[in-house]
Amino acid sequence: MSLSFPRAALSCLALASLASFAHAQQPALKVGLMLPYSGTYSALGVAIENGFKLRVQELGGKLGGRDIEYVKVDDESDPAKATDNVNKLIKRDNVDVIIGTVHSGVAMAMAKAAKESGTVLIIPNAGADAVTGPMCAQNIFRSSFSNWQPAYAMGMVAAKEGKKTAMTITWKYAAGDESVAGFKEGFEKGGGKVVKNLTVPFPNVEFQALLTEIAAAKPDAVYSFFAGGGAVKFVKDYAAAGLNKNIPLYGPGFLTDGTLQAQGDSAQGMLTTLHYADGLNTPRDNAFRTAYATQYKLQPDVYAVQGYDAAQMLATGMTAVKGDIGKKAEFAGAIEKAKIDSPRGAFTVSKAHNPVQDFYLRKVDGMENKVVGVAVKGLADPARGCRM
Ligand code: PHB
Repeated sequence: MSLSFPRAALSCLALASLASFAHAQQPALKVGLMLPYSGTYSALGVAIENGFKLRVQELGGKLGGRDIEYVKVDDESDPAKATDNVNKLIKRDNVDVIIGTVHSGVAMAMAKAAKESGTVLIIPNAGADAVTGPMCAQNIFRSSFSNWQPAYAMGMVAAKEGKKTAMTITWKYAAGDESVAGFKEGFEKGGGKVVKNLTVPFPNVEFQALLTEIAAAKPDAVYSFFAGGGAVKFVKDYAAAGLNKNIPLYGPGFLTDGTLQAQGDSAQGMLTTLHYADGLNTPRDNAFRTAYATQYKLQPDVYAVQGYDAAQMLATGMTAVKGDIGKKAEFAGAIEKAKIDSPRGAFTVSKAHNPVQDFYLRKVDGMENKVVGVAVKGLADPARGCRM
């Protein structure tokens, strides 16, 4: 040993400060936000971005010791443009992580690209069952729900309400199809029968002919998946046709979340199921709502929560790998082990990387989706087809 003790100690110190210098010098983490900023889902995209940025700000603007740089793409909820859009982020901008998106068809193209490139993808809304089913992967996560989850919960509620027959109406694309399938599973397990499925192409809002068909068929209930601008129009048209007086309109909470101001009287009394609700009145949710309202002069909705929790999941992984997002197994392992302290209530992430969470029953009361109770506790997506 040629070094005397004090010199060894000194060199250790030098090494340690060199390490912390290297740590501080890690470049900013490039976060690609691929969200709808135009079209029927534009308000959803904005709420997700707001929620995400709020959490990053609460964490001091850094994740795993790294500053954050944002790159944004408007995906227009257009699956035909999705592959080009996601490749702009992966190949041109070289992002470290992608946060997106809302539309299931766009999300499936994003998952495919993420799987091929290994880029971390956190989906802050799109429920496409396949993403945490056959397409599941170590680098793909969801902070929201699978389309099956709230739909299955609503099917169970409708059966418990004593409804025997239901018609469904939705946009014709993955989210609508899977939502209807989840509802049917829950409803028929409870003894009900789905008698007919009606669809319109996404993002059309011409509902008149189908509403006439519902009025003539007189089912006990109608189950519907629409969201954003389309949900506003559908709920208003349903009430304007007088259908809400005799045939209750059920749906996943997207039908009435972030939309009540625009829907006004037409949504009053509606029952929906979702992993978030107004009036939870927990310290965690109250703190989030106050912070969000202060920052954005807006009330948060489920989309804001999902954006916020995407940042919480990313922060969990980034802290575990000390900023080195290339450590894939450690990054994923940390999220798989974590309990995410969400405003919706704490949740865990399944092996397929989808939240295991409570589904609330909510009732529209004024401008709120008031929590009535828990429809299904700790509901996990079945993750059919996921091999990981
Ligand atoms: C979807 O396409 O998966 C989707 C879109 C909007 C929602 C929920 C799900 O509110």
